Amino acid sequence: MTILKLDVMGQWIENEWIPYRTERDLQILWIPDFCVHEMVLSSYNRDAILPGGYTFVGVEQIECPAVTRINNYNYRGEITRRTGAFIYKFEAMDIDEVTEILILSSYFTDDGRVICLACVPETFMIAWAAFSKECERIFKSLSPRQEVIIIGGRTRAFVPTVEWDDIVLPESLKNELFEDVRSFFTKGIDVYQRLKLKPFRKLLLAGIPGTGKTMLCNAIAKWAIEQQYLVIYISSADQSGATFSKIQQALHIASNSSLPTLILLEELDAYLHKQEKALVLNVLDGSESLVNDYGTLLIATTNYPEAIDERVLKRPGRLDRIFIIPEIRTPSDAEKMLRQYLGEMWHEDHLQVSDMLVGYPGAFIREVAVYALTHVAYENLDYLPLDLLLRSFERLKEQVNTHDAFVLQQQKKPVSELFVKDDNDEE
Ligand SMILES: Nc1ncnc2c1ncn2[C@@H]1O[C@H](COP(=O)(O)OP(=O)(O)O)[C@@H](O)[C@H]1O
Ligand SMILES: [Mg+2]
Repeated sequence: MTILKLDVMGQWIENEWIPYRTERDLQILWIPDFCVHEMVLSSYNRDAILPGGYTFVGVEQIECPAVTRINNYNYRGEITRRTGAFIYKFEAMDIDEVTEILILSSYFTDDGRVICLACVPETFMIAWAAFSKECERIFKSLSPRQEVIIIGGRTRAFVPTVEWDDIVLPESLKNELFEDVRSFFTKGIDVYQRLKLKPFRKLLLAGIPGTGKTMLCNAIAKWAIEQQYLVIYISSADQSGATFSKIQQALHIASNSSLPTLILLEELDAYLHKQEKALVLNVLDGSESLVNDYGTLLIATTNYPEAIDERVLKRPGRLDRIFIIPEIRTPSDAEKMLRQYLGEMWHEDHLQVSDMLVGYPGAFIREVAVYALTHVAYENLDYLPLDLLLRSFERLKEQVNTHDAFVLQQQKKPVSELFVKDDNDEE
């Protein structure tokens, strides 16, 4: 027979606590873990009067062999949930007496789930319920910042600013991606839970460099923050580069959060290096990952899907869905993009150039516009002559061609071919 942590804690209270107390009718209660959250307790208003005239006066930690003392902390380095044994003290206004409530708190799984018991006199139950309710209210108001948390970057956080409408891509693709993200958080989590699956979904945005994948991530992050979700961006910009420990850290934050969480993992291919590939695959399989009951959506991107193992791309369950983010495909999208980047300098004549831009990624079109506009400024022109725009295009095209010749040598297959589903592909 397995002995539950709960039993060990309950038995200790029965045998080592209650017999030595003078109070009658002590009840053991299973209480929510926000009651042992340090930030909740330190924000608690100690002047607030609970039913029965009690006020909360403080917490004292005591020795208890049934539980270990461990502090959990958030990404800002603040202590969050604590485990151990505590005495919560409440004072009644008219009686000169302190009511002591024993709380035991412990981890009961390796992935960080906490269980808490309280030993409360029956006469104090109503006050306790009010105290617990207030803790819950405070806990829920410990709102996330209006920023994206960065792991492994050179700054700590950023505020996403990309507008969905500024991203020029086929509307159907944008809508499908957005609907996938939105429905996961609004409807999907219940479905996963009904099927007894961890609410963890993984999407991949794949396409050649400069097609707008980072932009899409930024715009989705902006939306998620508006929904009060937690958003974490895993960066490989610092010295340690693309390491698995960053992914692990993000999942840890997600699992400790009581908010739906969006994790952005750019350049997934870089994390699949020999040493750590197996670890990343375990996460994608969901077998190793920590759970957040409110849902975790991982959006990964790659410029080099050919560098991602077929076992990742094709094995069902590792990636739930792959979105191919294409170059500009229609003259009207090319025009829209060029108009967007040329702003007031746009002229109908430029249509001739925008037609030539079909087939290039967004970043290329932006560069054509930027190059042309800087020359307008250098030459003190008050308009953008067509031939200047054409020259910018030709010049950049040449640069890219040299680059492409190099890239193509390494990359034989077109991106889309990599995603053809092969049902016989069993690992
Ligand atoms: N689809 C697009 N719509 C509008 N601008 C784009 C698009 N794709 C790229 N750009 C421009 O190029 C820049 C680089 O694109 P980015 O999102 O970083 O590409 P990726 O992450 O796919 O390599 C963007 O900041 C934006 O200015
Ligand atoms: Mg990018």
